[in-house]
Amino acid sequence: MSSSSHHAVLSRFYVSIFFSFFVLSAGGQIRNAPLTKIDAERASKNYQQYCALCHGTEREGNAADYAPSLRSKSLMSTMPLNFLASSIGFGRPNTAMAAYLSDSGGPLTMKDIFILATWLKHQSGAETISLPLKPIDGDPVAGSAVYQQNCTECHGVKAEGITAPALANPAFLAFATDEYIKYAIVNGRDNTEMQAFNEVLSDRQINDLTAYIRSLTSGWSPEPKELSPYPKPGAYVTNPNGDHPDFKLREGRYVPMKQVAKALKEGKRIVLLDTRTTSEWHNAHIPGAIPIPYYITEEKVDEGLPKDKTWIIAYCSCPHAASDKIINMLRKKGFKNTAVIDEGFFNWINAGHPIIGGKPE
Ligand code: HEC
Ligand code: HEC
Repeated sequence: MSSSSHHAVLSRFYVSIFFSFFVLSAGGQIRNAPLTKIDAERASKNYQQYCALCHGTEREGNAADYAPSLRSKSLMSTMPLNFLASSIGFGRPNTAMAAYLSDSGGPLTMKDIFILATWLKHQSGAETISLPLKPIDGDPVAGSAVYQQNCTECHGVKAEGITAPALANPAFLAFATDEYIKYAIVNGRDNTEMQAFNEVLSDRQINDLTAYIRSLTSGWSPEPKELSPYPKPGAYVTNPNGDHPDFKLREGRYVPMKQVAKALKEGKRIVLLDTRTTSEWHNAHIPGAIPIPYYITEEKVDEGLPKDKTWIIAYCSCPHAASDKIINMLRKKGFKNTAVIDEGFFNWINAGHPIIGGKPE
């Protein structure tokens, strides 16, 4: 990617931010940007196609992967439109939340993303609360101790996220202000596992916690990806001259990653489907894997796939939701030798199995 197109991506993004800023501040009163009926219909359709898999058909969260609720008033009233759009466009690196922006190799345009973000705010019915931008004064060392006592069970010892979002995520901290973080701790997130801590912790402790989370910032800016060409249908089979592997599946569907790694090492014939958002395939994938994202249509899902005994193995980071969706579509179309890598892509990387296309950020 040349540096001029790099700048084009960033400046377009910032133009959009300024646009949303003016809409939000028009008339002095903070209101949600307007949304036409056509835009709302488009956003609703995009939401179901791209987001419902993990965030749920009603935006309730937790449909897969511990994806957060996108309907809690606490979140939607305090997350500014540009933060929301950035979360969708650039994702949260190293989590199941992919980048959806086309410049990052994803399926949505900047305009689609801003319309989707505006629609999410409208759907929540939450009035925008404008929080002060001033940093919060707190002691990060004291905050770390409070964190270790109250937060690790869901957010992880290093704030890397387990059943709750990664608070140490660089893309999160690049946009989350101190007051945004504090608000979430004080008020919790309605109808989720995130309780309001204002009755459990003192204001001092919450300020210290905020300072601790802030101290985890490592610096991040949206980097456009080097996009590689997609493989051609003739080249979908890895090791086309190899023998068929002999996989033993759990529940007739899940294959342990060890078996897949071994089959690849032994040069067995196999088709690997990367069912994540295409931007993730551009970041890194298992060598030979072809991008068949979970939001592909049923009509197109099997284009170019061999209709013989060849094993077709899907994976995602979820580790099952996206792959299951694709494997269900293929089985419905009569593909029998199909399976899902049981542990998912992150565990594949952590186990030291081969990947190409650069390491995830
Ligand atoms: C494969 C599962 C998956 C899909 C599909 C997905 N998300 Fe996410 N999303 C997640 C996870 C997991 C997180 C939390 C990431 C973390 O740990 O920070 C997240 C976080 C978010 C956040 C940040 C919320 C917060 O509380 O900070 C927003 C906004 C969001 N997603 C919107 C979307 C939208 C809109 C779509 C569709 C275009 C989408 N997501 C598709 C899994 C997914
Ligand atoms: C029982 C599990 C649990 C515990 C304990 C917990 N949280 Fe959370 N937290 C969550 C979940 C789940 C979410 C996402 C809620 C949603 O769906 O929007 C969340 C969201 C947040 C957010 C907002 C993140 C965002 O992307 O907007 C912050 C900040 C946060 N938690 C901080 C903390 C702190 C600090 C503590 C300890 C004092 C803590 N949490 C304890 C489950 C937990």
